[in-house]
Amino acid sequence: VSLESRLRSIVGGAHLIVERDVLATYQRDWTGRFHGEARCVVRPADTEQVASVVRECAAAGVALCIQGGNTGLVGGSTPMDGSVLLSTRRLDVVGDVDSVAWQVTAGAGVTLAGMQRRVRAAGLDFGVDFAARDSCTVGGMAATNAGGERVLRYGATRAQLAGAVAVLADGSVLTRMSGLPKDNCGYDLTGLLCGSEGTLGVITELRLRLVPLLRARAVALLAVDGTAAALDALRALRESLPALEAAELFFPAGLDLVLRHGDLPAPFPEPHPAYLLVECADLSDPAEPLLDAIAQLPGLRDATTSADASGRRKLWAYREQHTEAISAEGTPVKLDVAVPVSRLAGFVAGLPGTVLQAAPTARTVLFGHLAEGNLHVNVLDALDCADAITEAVLTSVAREGGSVSAEHGVGRSKARWLHLSRSAAEVAAMRALKRALDPAGLLNPGVLLPDVQPS
Ligand code: FAD
Ligand code: MLT
Ligand code: ZN
Repeated sequence: VSLESRLRSIVGGAHLIVERDVLATYQRDWTGRFHGEARCVVRPADTEQVASVVRECAAAGVALCIQGGNTGLVGGSTPMDGSVLLSTRRLDVVGDVDSVAWQVTAGAGVTLAGMQRRVRAAGLDFGVDFAARDSCTVGGMAATNAGGERVLRYGATRAQLAGAVAVLADGSVLTRMSGLPKDNCGYDLTGLLCGSEGTLGVITELRLRLVPLLRARAVALLAVDGTAAALDALRALRESLPALEAAELFFPAGLDLVLRHGDLPAPFPEPHPAYLLVECADLSDPAEPLLDAIAQLPGLRDATTSADASGRRKLWAYREQHTEAISAEGTPVKLDVAVPVSRLAGFVAGLPGTVLQAAPTARTVLFGHLAEGNLHVNVLDALDCADAITEAVLTSVAREGGSVSAEHGVGRSKARWLHLSRSAAEVAAMRALKRALDPAGLLNPGVLLPDVQPS
């Protein structure tokens, strides 16, 4: 009996996909840069089915690619040729919101937006948010330790995890869902799964911490002289605005693409060297304190603010539409790096030159999450120089004491450069964990540790 037949008997005929045209929709990543040919897609409905699928693949010695919303930007959810692609999208049940513990249980395949709707209806909110919300899944967010636009207030996904259920490579199930805020009994396996990018287990459920629902919001888009001025403004705003929740940086090159592809009006009568979008959220209207704080900022070139929902959305569009606008221009080489904020301005200034040395005709578009020194480096018109660009940019990041992956993960695209951000001893410890939990190397081979292949 073929592996496909055995998988079909676990998930039912409708959820084992072998048709080439349907398979195609799972086999390319969001950016269009990565592609692989899976032998089939399997869509289990619950943890038990996931465990059975994993056991069958292990018995057949066939590798598994784990895919949630397929919005990842480092090629981690793209299948290795000949692997079985396990889609988590049917694991989409959200449990009741526990408004005493401020927690909720969600299946790994629940989208961020779906979960937000549920918890907001119960008067609470989730601490992580970003533009892929309609498609990315909470399982994928945990697997990548996704960051996004609220890290300055609430931290990244790891900080929101109170527990998880995961299926390991041998089909055994780890269940840690008590959600106890105090529970110090050895290794933090939930924390270990977070950021493991599908290489240690399949996350099937999560116990998520929630935060207060702050409906009163105000957004300001500030035009500033450059990165250093944006950091000065952020420092001042943070001191006077405890309700500050987001601080996002972008530049004229990115704004031009957003205006063109999104058909939006320019936010200011003339272009400026850099833009800082900030948002405050509180129980009572934060517009006045935000306006007061902005009025105190020295050297501001221009500013526009909004406190009503539609105005706020319009201002956020200038920032959130960067990813789509860049992709509308062509397939970018995407790098997601962090440097210490004290070095950010110098790094930004030097970056276009660093890229041009590796790819003389490239266009570089930068934007990012200012408070964490997290810069999204998008290089257009230079896909054939991807390795040289990656090498040049990531080496310069390492020189600054930064990280080669701030929030997107390592995936396939940056696996060869992991050593720039992790010591030999750290990589050896990661390999030992991988060997212990997935000795045959069947879970997401080629992701994170590129030379670990199925044995
Ligand atoms: P996928 O892309 O399907 O998978 C990502 C990785 O996780 C893969 O390695 C996959 O194998 C693994 N994985 C997925 N589900 C599971 C599971 N249940 N168990 C084990 N492993 C699993 N990211 C940020 O951090 N911050 C941002 O601000 C941000 N903005 C974005 C904006 C846009 C427009 C887009 C397209 C992407 C953005 N991303 C951002 C990247 C992406 O959305 C996140 O990495 C997200 O967490 C991926 O979720 P996903 O469900 O799509 O995962
Ligand atoms: C974002 O902050 O919008 C992203 O992480 C997506 C990207 O880097 O394109
Ligand atoms: Zn980001």
